[in-house]
Amino acid sequence: MSTDHLKIQFKLHPVPECLLSRNPPPHVNSIEQYKKLYEESIKNPTEFWGKLANELLTWHTPFQTVLSGGFEHGDVTWFREGRLNASYNCLDRHAIKNPDKVAIIYEADEPGQDRKITYGELLRDVCRFANVLKAHGVKKGDTVSIYMPMVPEAVIAILACARLGAVHSVVFAGFSPGSLRDRILDASSKIVITADESCRGGRTIHTKKIIDEALVECPGVEHVFVFRCTGSSVPFSSPRDVWWHDELEKQRPYCPPEIVNAEDPLFIMYTSGSTGKPKGVIHTTGGYLLNAAATLKYVFDYHEGDIMGCMADIGWITGHNCIIYGPLANGGTAVLFGSTPIYPTPSRYWEVVAKHKITQFYTAPTAIRLLRKFGREYVDPHDLSSLRVIGTAGEPINPDTWEWYNEVVGRNVCSVIDTYWQTETGSVTVTPFPGATATKPGSATFPFFGIDLAILNPDTGEEIETTEAEGVLAIRRPWPSMARTIYNNHNRYLDTYMRPYKGYYFTGDGAGRDHDGYYWIRGRVDDVINVSGHRLSTSEIESALIMHPMTAEAAAIGVSNEIKGQCVQAFVTLKPNSNNTDVKDLTLQVRKYIGPFAAPEKVYIVNDLPKTRSGKIMRRILRKIVEGQTDSLGDLSTLANPDTVDTLIEEVKNS
Ligand code: WTA
Repeated sequence: MSTDHLKIQFKLHPVPECLLSRNPPPHVNSIEQYKKLYEESIKNPTEFWGKLANELLTWHTPFQTVLSGGFEHGDVTWFREGRLNASYNCLDRHAIKNPDKVAIIYEADEPGQDRKITYGELLRDVCRFANVLKAHGVKKGDTVSIYMPMVPEAVIAILACARLGAVHSVVFAGFSPGSLRDRILDASSKIVITADESCRGGRTIHTKKIIDEALVECPGVEHVFVFRCTGSSVPFSSPRDVWWHDELEKQRPYCPPEIVNAEDPLFIMYTSGSTGKPKGVIHTTGGYLLNAAATLKYVFDYHEGDIMGCMADIGWITGHNCIIYGPLANGGTAVLFGSTPIYPTPSRYWEVVAKHKITQFYTAPTAIRLLRKFGREYVDPHDLSSLRVIGTAGEPINPDTWEWYNEVVGRNVCSVIDTYWQTETGSVTVTPFPGATATKPGSATFPFFGIDLAILNPDTGEEIETTEAEGVLAIRRPWPSMARTIYNNHNRYLDTYMRPYKGYYFTGDGAGRDHDGYYWIRGRVDDVINVSGHRLSTSEIESALIMHPMTAEAAAIGVSNEIKGQCVQAFVTLKPNSNNTDVKDLTLQVRKYIGPFAAPEKVYIVNDLPKTRSGKIMRRILRKIVEGQTDSLGDLSTLANPDTVDTLIEEVKNS
């Protein structure tokens, strides 16, 4: 692979002077200090992580073995004799010392309806709800599915599970009944926690109705706890359905934490892979919590008194890490944002930053691209002087957008951090350190502590040892928050991450390393589409399309999109005698089976799809046709039906 493009000199942004002269100074305040700590974390991981685990977490039983096991069998353990409780670490130890400190600032959908929740209050609420769950039979190791809007009760539900050692599985509230059902069934949850309705961007979402539809095919669910959010009347079927508030009143506001092993699972998070079936990624209590705490402290340079403003949904790993576990494990204050960047106006984020004096702001590049389109007049009037660190995650940020973020939002006095990570990595893996790393717009820069990166030749699997390298991104050794398995499918875990390149964890992303050693993440090399930072698999979308009675075959592709990064487009062939199919029905089909965010922007109804002789659809060719690159379609000789290509080009042109 050519590496000429890696020689381009990118503008280097030094760490803003005002951050270095702050008192207290950044936790890591020079590139030399970063290098020293990073080297220690790689050369002596046992000492490095052992020390940090005792510094950042409270253990009920100390650990003796920091790390054991490896990638080959997927038997990695961290802190294996250690015992702790995540909710104790996030609540009790701070509430005992400082009960009146604000833990969560809730910014509701409608401006002006914000609410602050202290550590003392949060601990009592979590305990009460944990007692409710306990009274309904929930115990250590049980899985609990949570499908909730962005309300404080979602945080309470999550931490109540952690208090009992139950395993939470939060399903993003944008998923449809079908996707929700699959996730509840896969996790074998007997308990579901939800709300009556919710509001987002001024629109009402009929949450309970979605749950009811999903549960038609989940006979194993015994109880549904319903939080009253809007108060509208919703379908309610006792004794299965139980009102949150009715039960809460019965319970005492203290519940002793169930002390679990470091390797006991803390949660399941479903994510898309190359095949249609979503993977339930398992994160464990000790390692995950340690990395979540370390991310907030080092990646966001969290100091006492800071206000962390992560705009992600708690249904994604970013929300778990940067709204709940990271801030609370540090005894910090986090904003829980329940609206959209443009509701009621495109100034919403900046009003929230100014109102709550947010110090660390974190969102997805897609939101920045959208707001940039509206113009800086929506940003400029707001006092953003509290901001110190502004970050992005979830997808590549293009240099132009980075520069705009830096200048307009960061006013050239903030550290801009492009953080690269995955649901499976559990915490940030490639990132600038706010007080140490000179940044290059579009590069996630350098590895976080303990992340031993390698760039491999995708064909041979050999490691590219030169500084300049282009290939696929892999990690050489275990880190504390790495996913330990896929729920009930360890073999799939090994197949997906450990077996493609022996001895490495495979990220599924392409990456480059330039002459200065900076990493540039290129995006997925598998069949995963990243729409506005949401991961979708092509086969998941295809399965939804194929369920339509008129569909014969379907192919989904990701196409570049100015705002969303990528959008979904689909090609469908119809069964004979089904000429009347409306494209809208097909789009609706995906909305219904996965969720609105997965709906294809365009569906082409075509006569045939390009296939190899073994019957594999060549999505690469479809992508090129849609992007107008018909003169670089590559080798078509492997196609079983090369004539289709010309017909397809015409069909796309005429649609
Ligand atoms: C992509 C989100 C470029 C990548 C935290 C990865 C990124 C997938 C970045 C994981 C970034 C995430 N630059 N690409 N800074 N961050 N990605 O599991 O393709 O929802 O594999 O985790 O998003 O998405 P996930």
